[in-house]
Amino acid sequence: MAKDKTLFVCSECGGTSPKWLGKCPSCGAWNTLVEQVAGAGAGGAANNRFGTQFASLAGASELSTLSEIEATDVARTPTGLDELDRVLGGGIVSGGVTLIGGDPGIGKSTLLLQAVDALQRAGQNALYVTGEESGSQVALRSKRLGLDHSQVQVLAEIQLEKIIATLDATRPAIAVIDSIQTVYSDQLTSAPGSVAQVRECAAHLTRFAKTSGTAVVLVGHVTKEGALAGPRVLEHMVDTVLYFEGDTHSSFRLVRAIKNRFGAVNEIGVFAMTERGLKGVTNPSAIFLSQHAEPVPGSVVLVTLEGTRPMLVEIQALVDNGGPSPRRLSVGLDRDRLAMLLAVLHRHAGVACMDQDVFVNAVGGVRISEPAADLAVMLAITSSLRGKPLPKGFIAFGEVGLAGEVRPAPRGQERLREAAKLGFSVAVVPKANAPRKGAKEIEGLTIHAVDRIEEAMDVVRRLD
Ligand code: TYD
Ligand code: MG
Repeated sequence: MAKDKTLFVCSECGGTSPKWLGKCPSCGAWNTLVEQVAGAGAGGAANNRFGTQFASLAGASELSTLSEIEATDVARTPTGLDELDRVLGGGIVSGGVTLIGGDPGIGKSTLLLQAVDALQRAGQNALYVTGEESGSQVALRSKRLGLDHSQVQVLAEIQLEKIIATLDATRPAIAVIDSIQTVYSDQLTSAPGSVAQVRECAAHLTRFAKTSGTAVVLVGHVTKEGALAGPRVLEHMVDTVLYFEGDTHSSFRLVRAIKNRFGAVNEIGVFAMTERGLKGVTNPSAIFLSQHAEPVPGSVVLVTLEGTRPMLVEIQALVDNGGPSPRRLSVGLDRDRLAMLLAVLHRHAGVACMDQDVFVNAVGGVRISEPAADLAVMLAITSSLRGKPLPKGFIAFGEVGLAGEVRPAPRGQERLREAAKLGFSVAVVPKANAPRKGAKEIEGLTIHAVDRIEEAMDVVRRLD
């Protein structure tokens, strides 16, 4: 129906065209035309001359001051999976929309099936819309997960209008759409999974969530680069964005909140993939350490803070003779930052890697975004270059600036206590993070406080 209403709108200038063109007829920009249903959504053609067009609507909507609006706290329903509730900020929120992304096979469908089943058993109506798999494949998974006699309703459907109609008729407390890329609306001519389709379908489902109070969870695919395929726009539309991280080869999975209107961001939940689905790991601080019988060159344990929990992650570096254009490669760490740290190492600590290949890796597929990893990365690089391991039980953290200064990391004391608890004995940390003179020491941990990267290098050399 209504195919004639289809319109292509330029994302640059808002110009329109009745058919898709490579070049915008209004502003001449290339590849900016995106299909849209006429009159629907923001940014549509109808908004172009909104000054005059909508003047008659002034006063049609009610205005109120902030103090007149009743501020109600959001009602959350715990899913019963503690680690998932932790990232969600306590549970699912009625009318909230959550986008969950991750590599294929990482466990999105598994986690959500477990969550909706737990909710259903707690008396919340749950609907699982499957577009990727058939109903019997979902049933097979639920059997594998040991979810006997599950009352979760399953709908194998990919047409948006039919999905919304079913949702409207059943009004579940939670609905999972697995995945948003398979859903299409017959109002658009574009193929399912295209930016226009994904955006339009997500907008409709979001509107449904807000008006009905159903909590909607959208499963999204990620591209090779790690972003949600095509529709980064989705991230702005939804309330919560969760990403699965971790190496599909290891059994651990991390779910991180990238955005959360109802909770803290960067909070993570840690799971282990078992024969019977995902199980929460309540004490994850030591899972990202590889076990070396004896210390090896190029390995440093970093104490990082993921959300509210300190975690220990092994940082590995390999520095090796490079060709005419040496490579810099990082896994789990920012590559631009690596280039910067190499420059700081050279300039302020006299460690030159110009003609060397440099590889760094955060063990276990975890992604580390905080600059507090700097010191550990630099010590790992130096250790590999010199071929000298750091002493047994060594940890480090701290940000390093362009001037070679070592800056404090947030909540240093907590990090140090966690390291001591796990039996680490030597730490190189920023001065401001070390316990003050006269303050209680951290038992079992010898702390070397440093102000500059040169000092850190000196300390390490003395430890050899
Ligand atoms: P899945 O949830 O289908 O991933 P996604 O929806 O993100 O693509 O996860 C599939 C993987 O998990 C698959 O490789 C098999 C594994 N798995 C287990 O190890 N144990 C289980 O109980 C289940 C259901 C899956
Ligand atoms: Mg899946």
